[in-house]
Amino acid sequence: MQPAISLDGFIAKLDGDSESWVNQADEARYQQVVRDAGAVIVGRTTYEQYKTDFDSYDDVVVFVCTNNKEFTDTSNVKHLSGNAIEIVDAIKSNHSFNEVIVCGGGEVNGMLADAGLVDEIVISVQSAVLGEGIPLFGIYKPRLNLELISVDQQIPGVVQNHYLVRN
Ligand SMILES: NC(=O)c1ccc[n+]([C@@H]2O[C@H](COP(=O)([O-])OP(=O)(O)OC[C@H]3O[C@@H](n4cnc5c(N)ncnc54)[C@H](OP(=O)(O)O)[C@@H]3O)[C@@H](O)[C@H]2O)c1
Repeated sequence: MQPAISLDGFIAKLDGDSESWVNQADEARYQQVVRDAGAVIVGRTTYEQYKTDFDSYDDVVVFVCTNNKEFTDTSNVKHLSGNAIEIVDAIKSNHSFNEVIVCGGGEVNGMLADAGLVDEIVISVQSAVLGEGIPLFGIYKPRLNLELISVDQQIPGVVQNHYLVRN
């Protein structure tokens, strides 16, 4: 999981804006992480918001969580549904990625974290307080034991904390 987050714990404003307050260099770093991993899992709301970006990845498989049976797959965009375990099992049984980047939004982050299926959290704390917005884990309330393994401040204004999930 590689979210950008406000200091007060939101991944987007209430209107869905997750761009205007996020450092552009941090966003570019995130895009490279996705390219390096070769696979992302994303909620349908996030996919639709950033469809142009997700559809333009050449060598990245984008797994979109949706209950919409009309969703049209492409060569690199595949839809999935079910509970968290079923979704992850479906990926594991058909692919051999070393890692799959969880790209949000809050509902998908929360579903996977709550089911104990997130191994690492690399979170980029932005220099912004939004006051209100979409929480990191949506309506879910996962309880995770974390081990902080590094803190990166290479991008001015952004503190990136890298945690391993120890449950
Ligand atoms: N700051 C960041 O790093 C970051 C990263 C990503 C996204 N975001 C922001 O997050 C916001 C969206 O978050 P969100 O919580 O509203 O939505 P979301 O998690 O992106 O998508 C929610 C949708 O995912 C589908 N879904 C979730 N669980 C499912 C399951 N078990 N099976 C099948 N489908 C499932 C459903 O789609 P259907 O309704 O189609 O069934 C649901 O409506 C946006 O504003 C986006 O900009 C921020």
